[in-house]
Amino acid sequence: MKIVTTVAEVREQVKEWRAQGLTVGLVPTMGYLHEGHASLIDASHRDNDRTVVSDFVNPIQFGPGEDLESYPRDIDHDAQLVEEHGGDLIFHPEPEEMYHEGFSSFVDMTVLTEELCGLSRPVHFRGVCTVVSKLFNIVKPDRAYFGKKDAQQLAVIRHMVDDLNMDIEIVGCPIIRESDGLAKSSRNTYLNDAERQAALVLSRAVFLGMELVRNGEKDCSVILSRMKVLIQAEPLARVDYVKMVDCRTMQQIKTLDRPALCAMAVYIGKTRLIDNFFTEDV
Ligand code: PAJ
Repeated sequence: MKIVTTVAEVREQVKEWRAQGLTVGLVPTMGYLHEGHASLIDASHRDNDRTVVSDFVNPIQFGPGEDLESYPRDIDHDAQLVEEHGGDLIFHPEPEEMYHEGFSSFVDMTVLTEELCGLSRPVHFRGVCTVVSKLFNIVKPDRAYFGKKDAQQLAVIRHMVDDLNMDIEIVGCPIIRESDGLAKSSRNTYLNDAERQAALVLSRAVFLGMELVRNGEKDCSVILSRMKVLIQAEPLARVDYVKMVDCRTMQQIKTLDRPALCAMAVYIGKTRLIDNFFTEDV
């Protein structure tokens, strides 16, 4: 397993693999890797001859006042995890390597990014689409792996790949949770003990929503209000949104008459956490 920091080094390595007829999978990450990321690396290792993991805290997807500076970083730990899960190359660039002076091209998307996280984080998906496009151009993978944990991100990337005719298969992977239900996230490290306990309202609300759907409830307002009541009973929690959307268009729906995504963002103290379920997975 190798760590490289420049675009040229990635290209050289991938070229060598291509010359041997090998397939390449890409797992884009912002580092501080945990078992959620590991599951994507496992999936890529299973499907491809070689796996590239990008490890880059992408400044342009953070808005003003968000946690860019405090975002946790630990490349030594990341390298060990990638190695253990069969990754072959880590791309760990400095921001200047990705965004040279005068950088001025962005990939922007309408409609899908105007709901859910796009509402409270207006520049976020433009930053995500731009960096993921760059990574696709740098690595030119056969397949790229994204977690359902960031369900809107997965939908946005699938749509971008389709709109812009990118010849890459996008593979969506299930949410990995702690044993008590909390979805694994690099941001969980921000939580103190009381907040860590309070954060369980997200997964409890998800499990309640899933149960209601399993029992045949079709009225989204019934499902969402039951979930919100559960979350609001926790004094340390503040709801950003809890919504039911069409899982393709990300537009809100009132009745469960098509495949849907139930997604939420909740502040626990100052930390904003997300969780969700797809009705198809219930
Ligand atoms: P990051 O938050 O590091 O997540 C990298 C990938 O890991 C994403 O596809 C995310 O959905 C997945 N992931 C995180 N936690 C997970 C969990 N508990 N279960 C399953 N998958 C999980 O998402 C980003 O980075 C960035 O926006 C990025 C795509 C790298 C662009 O900068």
